[in-house]
Amino acid sequence: MTTATLDLEKVGAFAQRISGMLDGGATTAMMVVGDRIGLYAVLAAGGPLTSAQLAAETGTAERYVREWLAQQAAVGIVHHHPEDGTFTLPPEHAAVLAADDSPASMIGAAPLVSGMHRRTDELAEAFRSGTGIPWADQDPTVFESTERFFSVGYRNSLVSEWIPALTGVHEKLSAGARVVDVGCGHGAPVLLMAQAYPASQFVGYDVHRASVETATRRAVDAGLSDRVRFEVGHCHGYPERDVDVVTFFDAFHDLGDPVGAAAHARQSLAADGTLVLVEPRAADDLATTIGTVPMAAFGFAASTFLCTPNSLSQPVGRALGALSGEAALREVLTEAGFSSVRRAAENDVNMVIEARP
Ligand SMILES: C[S@@+](CC[C@H](N)C(=O)[O-])C[C@H]1O[C@@H](n2cnc3c(N)ncnc32)[C@H](O)[C@@H]1O
Repeated sequence: MTTATLDLEKVGAFAQRISGMLDGGATTAMMVVGDRIGLYAVLAAGGPLTSAQLAAETGTAERYVREWLAQQAAVGIVHHHPEDGTFTLPPEHAAVLAADDSPASMIGAAPLVSGMHRRTDELAEAFRSGTGIPWADQDPTVFESTERFFSVGYRNSLVSEWIPALTGVHEKLSAGARVVDVGCGHGAPVLLMAQAYPASQFVGYDVHRASVETATRRAVDAGLSDRVRFEVGHCHGYPERDVDVVTFFDAFHDLGDPVGAAAHARQSLAADGTLVLVEPRAADDLATTIGTVPMAAFGFAASTFLCTPNSLSQPVGRALGALSGEAALREVLTEAGFSSVRRAAENDVNMVIEARP
């Protein structure tokens, strides 16, 4: 390619956009460090701090903290006050970065990016060979990040908006229902439901033993282990029958055989039971998804790194992709024998699909 044919203004503008992306990638690593050693939490709690004060309060080395603060000021996360050499984290930024329990928290997503970077060689090799990569082979930061980041959305919407939007599910859970969650991971949505519905019983299944162990610890810590258990189990291997609700939280598109998984869920459900899929919100075509879904680029990156490879690592390997859209999910559920499928709720990030046997 010769530069003579190029519109150099466009090259410059695009190079600036790429430079912004490189800033973002590098900043994500800085965010993970700031999160790990409590720099954001202390900045959020304290007034203006110098690098020496922040280092003293976090028990860290001042020289590193000074460099980190310079980077965070350069990218606009913290404000630098040259008159006295202090730094502040505005409360609006703290709401996004300093605490997992804030409804606006996004800091939990940062380790997911670290996890992706740690597996680029394996992914490039999978592109060449076409083989899959099981969830269990991902970097552990991915499991931590999935729990932390998805939990924000579950806390914001699951009990207050999504369950009430499902036909009769709130009433059943209130009265005492049996719930199976498939692809439970660290169990965050199951624990939220168990806290909200003390008369109901929950069991979560996942093929990833380490995740099941973490979920089990979480249930014990929350004092819920009398009604909540987590087991190692495949999406079409669990034995329960006459179940009131089967849920898949951000797991259905990860499966190699989603038709088989949905058919197994249908067999497990009572005649008036409900299947619930919580999936990333996406349109049915790429152009609309790219144009309308916030963080679509992040979602497609996660899908390329985690969801698609996991599906390809399992029998059938349907590889729906994380942003497959409602029509593709409806097709799978219909193939599995479900007679009624509807979108019950959605927000910027997720859509909730309800299916009846
Ligand atoms: C993106 S994570 C979601 C975890 C959890 N549901 C949440 O929302 O936090 C997807 C989970 O599906 C699990 N998974 C993948 N294939 C599975 C299969 N065939 N059967 C059961 N679980 C599976 C993975 O191990 C992983 O824990």
